[in-house]
Amino acid sequence: MKTRLEQAGIPSTLSVGDVARRAGVSVSALHFYEAKGLISSDRTEGNQRRYSRDVLRRVAFIRVAQRVGIALTDIASALAGLPATAAPTRADWARLSAAWRADLDERMAQLKKLRDTLDDCIGCGCLSIDRCRLRNPLDKLAEQGAGPQRLWVGRRSAD
Ligand code: FES
Repeated sequence: MKTRLEQAGIPSTLSVGDVARRAGVSVSALHFYEAKGLISSDRTEGNQRRYSRDVLRRVAFIRVAQRVGIALTDIASALAGLPATAAPTRADWARLSAAWRADLDERMAQLKKLRDTLDDCIGCGCLSIDRCRLRNPLDKLAEQGAGPQRLWVGRRSAD
């Protein structure tokens, strides 16, 4: 039995080239998304990929999420929570993007901190392990003084 699309002469599935053209991505990007489990396809008898039409919205979802800096693993987790054969809905996007907002805020705060630290390094170039907070950002022991603080702890108690 033919679907309404097929009755209208529109194929119900899309080739990889069709998806690439309509979604505005490269064929290799689609292969990559598929290898990462973000999208899936069926194979024809000639081993050609065929995608259901909902893949267009999935690809749009992936591209927008990537554009705001969401990692592919997080996108994959989000898509894994959605029905495999249905396109993400507006409600899905609203829910997931709200959850990513806090993560984006956190990363923006970290980047701002990093940028402010970079201000100290511009024009310096020392890359000193002692002075440069970008080179040695978590140097908590520096607050206790210069030198190998952990080794001196044993020596101090022996003194
Ligand atoms: S390069 Fe000198 S303080 Fe970072």
